[in-house]
Amino acid sequence: EWNEDSIRQEVNALRHKPGALLPILHAIQDRIGYIPEGAVAVIAEALQQTRAEIHGVISFYHHFRTRPAGTHVLQICRAEACQSMGCRALESHIQQRLGIGFHQTTHDREFTLEPVYCLGNCACAPSIRLDDRILGRMTPEKFDLLAEQLTT
Ligand code: FES
Repeated sequence: EWNEDSIRQEVNALRHKPGALLPILHAIQDRIGYIPEGAVAVIAEALQQTRAEIHGVISFYHHFRTRPAGTHVLQICRAEACQSMGCRALESHIQQRLGIGFHQTTHDREFTLEPVYCLGNCACAPSIRLDDRILGRMTPEKFDLLAEQLTT
């Protein structure tokens, strides 16, 4: 839940810094979980930029969401060590199983899928992060078990 006051607080705390837009967007997403449409107007006004400019930056950085994430955020590592251990196959399995691509959320709003570039768990590649847990040596079979546990 958010209200305009909480957005204004974040904006006012950071607006005078150089390059304030990115820190502001990060602060809002950290606080609310996404960047609500209502926040864009507040930011645009404070920074004297157009809404289109703010939207442009939000869509350029896939990190920012414009809608709330699903119950679970699932990140799949796509960096080198994980690639060499087969993360691409794992990735297509997971996308097929969930029926979504990166930066999307399942219909039941259970999972949001995101790519990530190194989770610092290269020795146990391929790695994924499920909410706050980093899980290594992931396989399609292990993932299916995990998904079942989470959704039953
Ligand atoms: Fe995947 Fe480092 S490359 S955890």
